[in-house]
Amino acid sequence: MHAERPIGIFDSGVGGLSVVKALLEQMPAESFVYFGDTANVPYGNKSVPELFSLSRRIIAYFIRREVKAIIVACGTQSSNTLPVLEKECPVPIVGMLKPGIETALEVSDKKYIAVLATQATVSSRAYTKEIKNRCPDGRVLETACPAFVPLVENGQLEGEKTIMEVKKVAERIKKEPFDTLILGCTHYPFLINLIKKELDCGLHFVDPASATVAATMKILRNLNLLRTNDPSAVDHEFLVSGPPESFMKVGQLLLGTVVDEVQKIAL
Ligand code: DGL
Repeated sequence: MHAERPIGIFDSGVGGLSVVKALLEQMPAESFVYFGDTANVPYGNKSVPELFSLSRRIIAYFIRREVKAIIVACGTQSSNTLPVLEKECPVPIVGMLKPGIETALEVSDKKYIAVLATQATVSSRAYTKEIKNRCPDGRVLETACPAFVPLVENGQLEGEKTIMEVKKVAERIKKEPFDTLILGCTHYPFLINLIKKELDCGLHFVDPASATVAATMKILRNLNLLRTNDPSAVDHEFLVSGPPESFMKVGQLLLGTVVDEVQKIAL
């Protein structure tokens, strides 16, 4: 494997762009191939077998493309399939769960952690199990927010409907005395301003993207696979399984002109 090879990153749609943002900040010299599985979004209402079949197809594609590492930029896949995929995957594969939990446990004083995530993530109880594993006295409150992903996919980051949905979630969890909140779905950081408005009272907010990218960087450095060549000569590829136009429009809203070309592919 060569350092010049790209990193493969995938999500159900535009959510993983919150991870791409962290990647561009921390590893600007890396090339990447992003795959948004927009023909199958949302992942949050899929069964575990469905999630396996979707992620295995994407990983097989990335391996054909000879990526040097894979970032599972999706909380749902990280919670439900990653422990098995890690054993199958011939290149390093990193997910959102552990890096996010490590950060949360570092910043949390009371070790009472709320997790906003998709229904499939909440049903897996992966966050609760992993937090309890590392901190048996810790408390975890996992809450599904099924309305958030379609809103972000449509680029509705503000407006009455979005505010109402964020308020509903805030009302549900407000009375619990947690001190740290993990954004357990990669779509949610794009709603952070509204979430903070409804819930901010000295809370620690954790977007696992930054720690996930840092973990990937550490692995690549250890394997001597960090790209050190000219950062201006990198290649950023955005691929989708659904209509490329809508991904491009919302992608530019979320990440700017980095999303300059989007191609539809069949895996
Ligand atoms: N962004 C993904 C996650 O982090 C998937 C959300 C969805 O498609 O439901 O969970």
